[in-house]
Amino acid sequence: MSNLVITGGSRLCGIIEVPGAKNAVLPVLAATLLNKGTSILENCPELDDVTTMLEILGALGCGIRREGSRIEVDASRLTASSIPEALARKMRSSIIILGALLARCGEVHVSYPGGCEIGLRPIDMHLKALSQMGAQIDGINDGILCCRAEKLTGCEILLDYPSVGATENIMLAASMAEGETIIRNAAKEPEIDDLQAFLRKLGVQVSGAGTGVIRIQGTREIKAEPVHRIIPDRIVAGTYLAAAAATGGSLVVTGVIYDHIGSVLYCLKRCGCRIKNYSGNVIALESNGNLTALDLVRTSPYPGFPTDMQPQMVALLSKCRGTSVVVETVFENRFRYTEQLMKLGADISVQGRTAIIRGVDKLKAAQLEARDLRGGAALVIGALAAEGTSSISGVNYIDRGYERMEKVLSSIGADIKRVET
Ligand code: EPZ
Repeated sequence: MSNLVITGGSRLCGIIEVPGAKNAVLPVLAATLLNKGTSILENCPELDDVTTMLEILGALGCGIRREGSRIEVDASRLTASSIPEALARKMRSSIIILGALLARCGEVHVSYPGGCEIGLRPIDMHLKALSQMGAQIDGINDGILCCRAEKLTGCEILLDYPSVGATENIMLAASMAEGETIIRNAAKEPEIDDLQAFLRKLGVQVSGAGTGVIRIQGTREIKAEPVHRIIPDRIVAGTYLAAAAATGGSLVVTGVIYDHIGSVLYCLKRCGCRIKNYSGNVIALESNGNLTALDLVRTSPYPGFPTDMQPQMVALLSKCRGTSVVVETVFENRFRYTEQLMKLGADISVQGRTAIIRGVDKLKAAQLEARDLRGGAALVIGALAAEGTSSISGVNYIDRGYERMEKVLSSIGADIKRVET
């Protein structure tokens, strides 16, 4: 296990290049299972979740080659259709393999993904949609999902909520279903657009990503040699920008897509940061450290304020003058990390899905414990903005979504070390 030891007070200044997006590479890696050829992915982030996904693909019989941010997946011959339970449980989002594996093999056994720190995270919409396409699903109650489909048939599906994972699973299953599938109320996140771009390189006719209505014309056999570059990680970019804002720093992030984090940049500007957009993929932020509260931030599906930036924003607002209100509309339990922020002296009260943050002049170092990925990132921001030396345990959560965070932050002036315990 390791801890991050952070001595706050340094202004974060410098340049960061944004890596590929975790939440884009994971569904694209699942989509490589559809292909009886070799898929080449570039700009893949080096994260624990990506490693786990590659272990799962390997266990299914795929040939894997990884050189830095380049990954080759040869799925020409699959030897299994069961996802090893130990691996599936390491990563909740292993459920996005379901649609692709069912389409390719006609049968999938996967452990039912449990809930996590931020909510129950059910998969009812995934299963309902796959059943509509002709899948037979058993075993929901005893922890192992057994899904079978002699044949998947395209159909019209209306999602009760624009679920990212459900949209991805349906797109993958529909890619090899007979006929057309229409997904209404589909998620519009940029990662959906990236998955559509990859599926098109596999020869799948798919359109509508980003519009809320996605059409997929299934094809019986997929054999292609696609090369695909993963889009930049908008949440990693937003996280480091929030850290620079919280420390009164000046940060340039390159390789980012401005519109992918437009809602986050809007809030940072309203707090008092100066933001410059150079040619849409270089963003410069200046903060004098004396920022003001936001009357209301409500998380919502893209292009609204992203739930994955909610904890980081609350950490920043802890030091903004005045009272801010943050409402979390996507997950039912995504404020647990605030108990840790309060150890730093943050003044936060949580009622259900609403957090009220009263900005304080000073945060003081403390011993903190990360229990989920983005909550952990929020604790790092709090510690960077606090006086004194804090330590954060549970770094394994942070490593799931941030490449060598301590190296990146040190490169822009943070006093941060990873200490093995
Ligand atoms: C994806 O999770 C992301 N993960 C999450 O990022 C992100 O927070 C989330 O989308 C929302 O943007 C990956 O892409 C790997 P959802 P996902 O299905 O697909 C409910 C991070 O930190 N729901 O859009 O699981 C669900 O409980 C992670 O990188 C159902 O009720 O999210 C939640 O309340 C965290 N039934 C809401 O919908 C279902 O069948 C949104 O979930 C599916 C979802």
